[in-house]
Amino acid sequence: MPIIIARIIIITVLLIPAKIFAQYGYQRCNIPTTLRGEWFSREDGQNVYTKITENDFSNRGSCMEMISHSYDNFTFLLKKADCLSCVRILIRTLNVLEKIETNCLQNNPNVAPNYDSLCKNSLDNNQEMITMFCIFHLFISIIATNPSGKNCRSSLEGVWNFAYQNRFKFTGECIHEEANITACQKPGTQFFNLNQQFVMNYRKCINMRETEDAEVQFKCLGDWYVGKNHFFAVVNSRESRMEEKYRCFLSNRDDDQFLSVSITAECNTLKSPQEGPERLRLFPVRAELVQAKCTLPQNFSGIWINTANFDAEVSINSTTMVEKWRPDTGRFKQEIFVCQEQRGSRFVMARLGVNGCQKDYVCFEFLPRHHNVIRYRKGQAMIMDRFSTVCAWTMFNSEEQWKYDILIAKNPVSIKCPIAGKFRFKQTGDILFETRIRGGVTQFPRPNVYCKANISDFSVCDSDQKILNIDADYCLSVDQFGLPVDIYSQPDYQMQCIAYWKENLKSYLITYDSLDAYSRYRCWVYQRADLNAILMSMSVGAFCHIRQDVRSGNAVEGAQVALEMIEYEREHDDCPLYFDDGSNPYKNAQDHVTILRPMATNSIRSLLNNNRHHVWLLQTFLFISLNFLFYQLNN
Ligand SMILES: *[C@@H]1O[C@H](CO)[C@@H](O)[C@H](O)[C@H]1NC(C)=O
Ligand SMILES: *[C@@H]1O[C@H](CO)[C@@H](O)[C@H](O)[C@H]1NC(C)=O
Ligand SMILES: *[C@@H]1O[C@H](CO)[C@@H](O)[C@H](O)[C@H]1NC(C)=O
Ligand SMILES: *[C@@H]1O[C@H](CO)[C@@H](O)[C@H](O)[C@H]1NC(C)=O
Ligand SMILES: *[C@@H]1O[C@H](CO)[C@@H](O)[C@H](O)[C@H]1NC(C)=O
Repeated sequence: MPIIIARIIIITVLLIPAKIFAQYGYQRCNIPTTLRGEWFSREDGQNVYTKITENDFSNRGSCMEMISHSYDNFTFLLKKADCLSCVRILIRTLNVLEKIETNCLQNNPNVAPNYDSLCKNSLDNNQEMITMFCIFHLFISIIATNPSGKNCRSSLEGVWNFAYQNRFKFTGECIHEEANITACQKPGTQFFNLNQQFVMNYRKCINMRETEDAEVQFKCLGDWYVGKNHFFAVVNSRESRMEEKYRCFLSNRDDDQFLSVSITAECNTLKSPQEGPERLRLFPVRAELVQAKCTLPQNFSGIWINTANFDAEVSINSTTMVEKWRPDTGRFKQEIFVCQEQRGSRFVMARLGVNGCQKDYVCFEFLPRHHNVIRYRKGQAMIMDRFSTVCAWTMFNSEEQWKYDILIAKNPVSIKCPIAGKFRFKQTGDILFETRIRGGVTQFPRPNVYCKANISDFSVCDSDQKILNIDADYCLSVDQFGLPVDIYSQPDYQMQCIAYWKENLKSYLITYDSLDAYSRYRCWVYQRADLNAILMSMSVGAFCHIRQDVRSGNAVEGAQVALEMIEYEREHDDCPLYFDDGSNPYKNAQDHVTILRPMATNSIRSLLNNNRHHVWLLQTFLFISLNFLFYQLNN
């Protein structure tokens, strides 16, 4: 007994200091790994190096509190000796941070120092921010990695001649017709770093002493937006002096004639594309004209949606394809392809360079259009235009499993569905079909109506068989004449069939629902499992994942729900079963005459099975007919 008590005391004594320790804020902040490393900044004309580790800023001490306002906005309360200070850090790119900070702050002795009492009101968001450039990252405690370059495309793309002004070095503007900027993507290169840099050629203007001939190669460190201002940071890798190495640029899409450039490692000196230490006036270099040398199939002309590329809009005419899209961040992008050479299904297309960059060549393999889709594959871009090189089969996606990408007509025309009939279904998956009023709120519980059975219903019953109706909760009930009483027959989901085909032994169907808030287009994989059973799976987005099959119901396979459907047509439904596996998507709608019926025709089946009265009638009818026949024969 005394031993136990002694132990408890010892444990308690051991725990106390740890508790005190924690209370006074020495617990570890666990600073995010993206911030850890060594950073360079220019502050009050001095070179400053800051090393940030798991719990420590080298020049400001250890972290007492960390508040993360968002994934890229953090505030730290730091303590070094008697100095408490606050630093707010904004992550601009993996290589660039910006910060605002306070001097040493006075703490109220009655309160433990914390964010609310010290930092909340002392940091001024309008203060000029200090830019910090990454020298190396410390991702894993001691292994330092050099900052990686970023593709320049989002920062700057094009070729320009420029005139320049430097407020600090000379007066006036140096206009030399040979001064130029070249920021072009080199296609098909394995040297990714070629696409991570751009070149500026400065030219000396006569009579302007401070101007000079110089070629500067800048490596891109990434870009960010503050309102409409588009900043990007660069490093001159051939420069060894730290204060001359890093530069910041500012452009703005409303004023694309100018670009301002810092002459130090500070972005805060740039106020607008025209106000900064150095100002460039840009003259776009004329893009070369590309003549079309072949034509695209006539029925490709129109406006399409490329579901695989941010739902890009693709306009096609007889010779040219223009693809426009908007990435998650940044401005609209567009690519223009002009037909150059066709052999069979493969087309060499010239891709026009952006803003005067050199054109390159891409091979497209197009399948003939069917319904509302064009199926295609796109090869890698090349600088040369030889068909045998650009369109070699190896230029296409080399993965073992692949399927064609699709362009879907922007304004599709509904077609006859490959599946028709009335089915009851069971569903499984991440997002199930549910009872609702189409395009709106969930329906109230059904008032008391006697339902013989509650089922989920999938029907394609309209006379053209073009519309697919889904009712998650359908009340099956018939009156005394065998007629369905479908009071609540508004379907929850209504989709139009717009294309189907078979590829890699899978049948695909594309549906269109203008009310679908998540994706108007959906891709289904379907298969006939039995004479009257069908399996189907519906995609999450607008295209089918290569791994989606009829039983897929989860996001890993790109699907959200899988249906197991059994045909259940009733006597008065007049909704015959129809199935087409899509192996010939080119046949005309008029050819679709084979209407499959699971047994004999429905009316005879119901006569035989269901209704004694009808059976009696039939027997009578047969009896009379046979008698009549015999009568005829005997005469
Ligand atoms: C960062 O978070 C602080 C605190 O919520 C906020 O005042 C400030 O505007 C944010 N800065 C940016 C650039 O989002
Ligand atoms: C840019 O200028 C340099 C030097 O004047 C010249 O060699 C180069 O060809 C120019 N580039 C373009 C694309 O005009
Ligand atoms: C096709 O579209 C391009 C770009 O929109 C245009 O320049 C060209 O004149 C058009 N060609 C025809 C034949 O309409
Ligand atoms: C489009 O034209 C091709 C022949 O150029 C033809 O095979 C295909 O059936 C047509 N598709 C449609 C939907 O008209
Ligand atoms: C069908 O559902 C309704 C309520 O929605 C319920 O009153 C009825 O009993 C159910 N019928 C069967 C056969 O389960």
